[in-house]
Amino acid sequence: MERTLCIIKPDAVKKKVQGNIIQMLLDAGFTIRAMKLIQLTKEQAQKFYEVHKERPFYNDLVEYMTSGPVIPIALEKENAVPDYRELIGATDPAEAKEGTVRKKYATSKAENAVHGSDSVENGKIEVGFFFKEEELV
Ligand code: CMP
Repeated sequence: MERTLCIIKPDAVKKKVQGNIIQMLLDAGFTIRAMKLIQLTKEQAQKFYEVHKERPFYNDLVEYMTSGPVIPIALEKENAVPDYRELIGATDPAEAKEGTVRKKYATSKAENAVHGSDSVENGKIEVGFFFKEEELV
């Protein structure tokens, strides 16, 4: 079974659409193996997005991801990584297909409601960033 990490981001939590997003995940056939509500520290956000540290949006991304609580969710499903990316839609909500999470709930390219792992390998790494193996049920 493949694993991927969803993070419901601060803009979606502030809009109180986290319940709708979780329902979309369940309706799409994902199993939730672990989930928590947390406030990221600056250090955690910097580390999680380290791969983007040379990008011009890095500092704003870290600031935004620490602007309020987030909900990391460890998801499992066959083909979890591509199926989840299809469900959430393009990074930029203006380019996201109708019916996707970002089309429905994202505000902008930066405040885009949810994070998604971009590969099977990163799915494993990112689930491990937030959850110990024994926390996955
Ligand atoms: P995410 O899937 O969490 O992965 C990296 C994040 O960086 C992305 O979603 C966006 O929140 C943000 N991001 C990516 N590209 C841009 C951009 N061009 N401008 C601002 N933020 C971006």
